[in-house]
Amino acid sequence: MMIATLASAAIASRRDWTGTAACGACHPKELAAWQATPHANTRGRFEGKPQAACLGCHGTGDAPAGAAIAVEVGCEACHGAGAAYAEDDLMRDKPVAVALGMVDLAQPGVRTSVCNGCHVRRTKHLPFDPSISPHQLRL
Ligand code: HEC
Ligand code: HEC
Ligand code: HEC
Ligand code: HEC
Repeated sequence: MMIATLASAAIASRRDWTGTAACGACHPKELAAWQATPHANTRGRFEGKPQAACLGCHGTGDAPAGAAIAVEVGCEACHGAGAAYAEDDLMRDKPVAVALGMVDLAQPGVRTSVCNGCHVRRTKHLPFDPSISPHQLRL
């Protein structure tokens, strides 16, 4: 049963995005915290549709090479495209979720490289520190 689920999920959905609302349905506390962060509110930086080049960092999805699913640094911009792993029974088994595309942000090296994918430059206020909690950021 589990093997069949794994195999079909892996085939169906390499880099399929489910969207912040879907993650938030099971993680309301994290959703509420994230909504108050600059990552959630970057839409306000742009008048009209941002260029694909900007969406590589100010969006979630496959930009700039493909389409963005949202103009926000959504859950999946850090945790990985979630359509394959965002199911209750899969998420309870971390190695399985990671095998299906969840990024293991508990590993400092992985976390740093995820942040640095967008934060290649220093942040405005401080030298960039990937170990700060992105869920606690406030506007
Ligand atoms: C159907 C409900 C459900 C959905 C949808 C869901 N999750 Fe989860 N998630 C869980 C459960 C259950 C756990 C494990 C129990 C716990 O620690 O809360 C979990 C655990 C996690 C963890 C901790 C993993 C660990 O062990 O370190 C992260 C991170 C996470 N989810 C992120 C996400 C993201 C990102 C999405 C959207 C792509 C998502 N979840 C969608 C139910 C869900
Ligand atoms: C997909 C790209 C992306 C990823 C991945 C990302 N960020 Fe960001 N981050 C941004 C963007 C874009 C902003 C600016 C949003 C705005 O203000 O409109 C930002 C803003 C911030 C800020 C506020 C900076 C300031 O000077 O005000 C901090 C702190 C931050 N991010 C920390 C992190 C951490 C820690 C991680 C990794 C765990 C991370 N970010 C991952 C794109 C990203
Ligand atoms: C390589 C990733 C990356 C790309 C590409 C990118 N940004 Fe950003 N942007 C960031 C990060 C990270 C921050 C927040 C950190 C900081 O304070 O510098 C930010 C902050 C901003 C801000 C807030 C003001 C400021 O300068 O701090 C604006 C406006 C902005 N970006 C517009 C754009 C536009 C327009 C584009 C496309 C032409 C773009 N960005 C492309 C990563 C990026
Ligand atoms: C800017 C990157 C970033 C974004 C955006 C983000 N997270 Fe996280 N999240 C992290 C990091 C880093 C951790 C800590 C991982 C660790 O140490 O295991 C984390 C931890 C978690 C956990 C584990 C429990 C906890 O609170 O530590 C859950 C669940 C979670 N995130 C869900 C979400 C959901 C749902 C969203 C969207 C509403 C989201 N995250 C958005 C980076 C991010």
